[in-house]
Amino acid sequence: MTAPKLYQFKQEGRKIVCITAYDTTSASLAEAAGVDVILVGDSAANVLFGESTTLPLSLETMATMVRSVSRAAHRSFVVADMPFGTYGASLDQTVKHAVMLMKSGAQAVKIEGCLEEEIWALGRIGIPVMGHLGMTPQSIHNFGGFRVQGRGEEGSLIAEQAQRIQDAGVFAMVLELIPQELATSISKQLDIPTIGIGAGPGCDGQIQVWHDLLGLQEEEYRHAKRYCNLRETILSALGEYSEEVRHSKFPTSENSF
Ligand code: KIV
Repeated sequence: MTAPKLYQFKQEGRKIVCITAYDTTSASLAEAAGVDVILVGDSAANVLFGESTTLPLSLETMATMVRSVSRAAHRSFVVADMPFGTYGASLDQTVKHAVMLMKSGAQAVKIEGCLEEEIWALGRIGIPVMGHLGMTPQSIHNFGGFRVQGRGEEGSLIAEQAQRIQDAGVFAMVLELIPQELATSISKQLDIPTIGIGAGPGCDGQIQVWHDLLGLQEEEYRHAKRYCNLRETILSALGEYSEEVRHSKFPTSENSF
């Protein structure tokens, strides 16, 4: 998968399948399932490290996860989230940090917001950039919580920003938690693909967080669909294992040397 191919998908009306992954095992599963884009998301801060926001995730941790994912992703396109504070303060800093993620194995980086100069500066040195508008979790403290964005007049601001970041050179953009009518109209307005999460079926592709889709955590969200309940499966396996160890049923001679 490549950035130009994703563009082609949109022209052909083919939907783009994206998921987050943070390590080699999950990336190899996404790859085997034929997922188009693996996002090494800064949602790792929440689902792997138990933080309440994405803000604490460091560039070094992101680079380690990108290395791990890229070892298994041979067909899927690997996009690395640029963590909070690693871009935007200066173009030099933005470029330096994006280069580090590309050297770790990413094929593109994702940045939140309408940062046209940063997008242009990265594109100039050959780094494809995925945009991210709507509910951008790194701005959680500006929004005052995880809330749907772009209702009413705010919608035209998001549509305007979408056009601006497309013009600055993003190859695709995530639209998160915005009304579906707005996401559909932005998707029609743009040449590049939109990837929705909580933005309705009118987007050119969809992204889900690994843990939400597979039911690995207790929380359930309206924007997510649980395709299986791995939490229950794991709890049952761990229960059985504990039982067998406690009653000397595991290991048997078959597991011994
Ligand atoms: O970090 C992440 O997982 C994301 C997706 C939800 C788009 O940015």
